[in-house]
Amino acid sequence: MIPLRIGVMGLGTVGAGVFQVLERNSGEIARRTGRGLQVTQVSRRNLDAARELVGDRATVVADPHAIATSPDIDVVVELIGGTTLARDLVLLALRHGKHVVTANKALLAVHGEEIFGEARRLGLTVSFEAAVAGGIPVIKMLREGLSANRISWLAGIINGTTNFILTEMRDRGLPFADVLQEAQRLGYAEADPTFDIEGVDAAHKLALMGAIAFGMPVQFDSVYVEGITALHSQDIRYAGQMGYRIKLLGIARRRDDAGGVELRVHPTLVPEKCLMASVEGAMNAVMVQGDAVGTTLHYGKGAGSEPTASAVVADLVDIARLASAAPEHRVPSLSFQPDALQNLRVLSI
Ligand code: HSE
Repeated sequence: MIPLRIGVMGLGTVGAGVFQVLERNSGEIARRTGRGLQVTQVSRRNLDAARELVGDRATVVADPHAIATSPDIDVVVELIGGTTLARDLVLLALRHGKHVVTANKALLAVHGEEIFGEARRLGLTVSFEAAVAGGIPVIKMLREGLSANRISWLAGIINGTTNFILTEMRDRGLPFADVLQEAQRLGYAEADPTFDIEGVDAAHKLALMGAIAFGMPVQFDSVYVEGITALHSQDIRYAGQMGYRIKLLGIARRRDDAGGVELRVHPTLVPEKCLMASVEGAMNAVMVQGDAVGTTLHYGKGAGSEPTASAVVADLVDIARLASAAPEHRVPSLSFQPDALQNLRVLSI
């Protein structure tokens, strides 16, 4: 069978991870999908750096528009980041008949309705497992694993950078700015780290999880957001003396009494005996309460090259399986399916 031909736009930390994971596990993946997954084109502004990584295994281009419009690409992986160029490229790729995989939570939180709508109109898939909680498959968990449940709430540590900062400030007494620099060096932080420390990145992810968990439109603008910049080391110390850890949580809670959903991101006192209190460093964890399953906890690496690549490649595997299935057995779309949107609004708190 012809391999799935993949174009990667943006060959940075995550893009390099995607390339490595696909190469290392190609045999395993081919057995699972019945076909090969091949990165045939990559784009990066620094052509030499890209060539050094991919050698002659893929064509390197400077302009990602060439990938979005190429007749020789089946799936585009968008890892450019930001919301302007990335939006244009994703819409362009869809209009050229390509499925899209993206790790870009900001893009989908802001332009998700437009992008998902266009994908639906064209019968294509926009997959974004890597956009939320890095390597933990929370999107698949909410959309598939817990699809039998009426979800009443979810709460998560969904930003690795801030959890790393809070952990290091508590354990090593290091100043905020030093730990932030370390998080940037380790590749956890966003290009603009204010998105991490002001809670915006967590709010992007929460808006996406809330949309799936409650079947409502993506409503990033309505999320209550408070980051960790106002916290001092003595807050963390006093919390410890009282038996709490401070965690930046993203919380989505159904409010039947008010006919809506609360979406909020803020520092929270978590009792030390709670499992969430033990989530350290750049790890992420998401708890979900469903009426049939009860409370579940999902834990793993929330940032970094290969953990995020793991989620990107899982989406590519889904698309390879979808594309090789007989048409009558195809799942209509593996992306967010807002056909049955509920009219839930985000409540102000
Ligand atoms: N800056 C993000 C974080 C990267 O720290 O969680 C993963 O989304």
